[in-house]
Amino acid sequence: MSAIKMDYFADEILRVSAPAKINLHLEILGLRNDGFHELAMVMQSIDLADELDFQKTNDGLISLSCDDSSLSTEKENLVIKAAELLRKISEQKVGASIHLRKRIPIGAGLAGGSADGAAALLGLNYLWGLQLTVSQLEKLSAELGSDVPFCLEGGTQLCFGRGECLEKLNSGDTSIAVLLVKDPRVSVSTPWAYGRSKKLFSSSYLNDEHDFEERRKLLREVTWFKGVPSNQRISIRNDLQRVVAPETQAVQSALEILSEMPGSLAVAMSGSGPSCFALYPDLKSAEAANYQFRRQLKAAGLKSWCCSFRKQGVRFLK
Ligand code: C5P
Repeated sequence: MSAIKMDYFADEILRVSAPAKINLHLEILGLRNDGFHELAMVMQSIDLADELDFQKTNDGLISLSCDDSSLSTEKENLVIKAAELLRKISEQKVGASIHLRKRIPIGAGLAGGSADGAAALLGLNYLWGLQLTVSQLEKLSAELGSDVPFCLEGGTQLCFGRGECLEKLNSGDTSIAVLLVKDPRVSVSTPWAYGRSKKLFSSSYLNDEHDFEERRKLLREVTWFKGVPSNQRISIRNDLQRVVAPETQAVQSALEILSEMPGSLAVAMSGSGPSCFALYPDLKSAEAANYQFRRQLKAAGLKSWCCSFRKQGVRFLK
């Protein structure tokens, strides 16, 4: 990802694409001193993206509008938090008018809010001429949330620590497609999911750095996500699935229906849910499965999307 965009004129609208992610692996290693969980994950950007438009203003105000009225556009929105964070660094009285076109389902375990926060960092860094490098933006972004650093560069990455310690992998096969399903009436709180895991499973968590590092090493050796073999079934681990699925009927139905679909490479929940996905060797087979099972999905109240793996995180569109 480049933090630099060459051809921009002062009054122009700057447009940034903010893609969702899925988890190809989410393993809880243990508890950290800061109260967060120590994680070992593989995250993958997908081609389902929000779009943000930025326009510079000189009134020192930051305003956000959104085409989805269910989303707050106030200070709890990560776009506003990102803007405030960058404005602290800027020495000018800069402002921005931002419009968010929401395509990523909200509260879904797809890092939609984090992607928007990362897009705001990229867009405003450019708009306000701050000239921060990608690695400076990455460091700042960890203050906004555990998934925001990943969303900046995206692609396929190992994510350790809270999720912010990144090791970029050569993106695997981008012809791999995702059939994503979610009940639009249901969302899962991430703090609740981690809290529940702590309550039920903390007695079996690892508790020393040496053991954490052993698990990280093992994950680094797993090769399938560096190039998913198109004919082999893969087992995806998500430790939050075992706490969220038993409590969430929409996740159980999604996993059941996806597991019945023929030809998929893997089926799992993403992040803290409730969105679930099946991987397919290509977009055509994902779309065929989606069509074949449209009645079952509709009867279960599930909305579905077909998209591909994406090699990149947030990026300028114009
Ligand atoms: O960092 P983020 O704001 O996305 O985290 C939301 C919540 O999820 C945290 O407040 C915490 O309860 C939980 N969490 C955690 N361990 C992580 C990441 C998130 O316990 N590594």
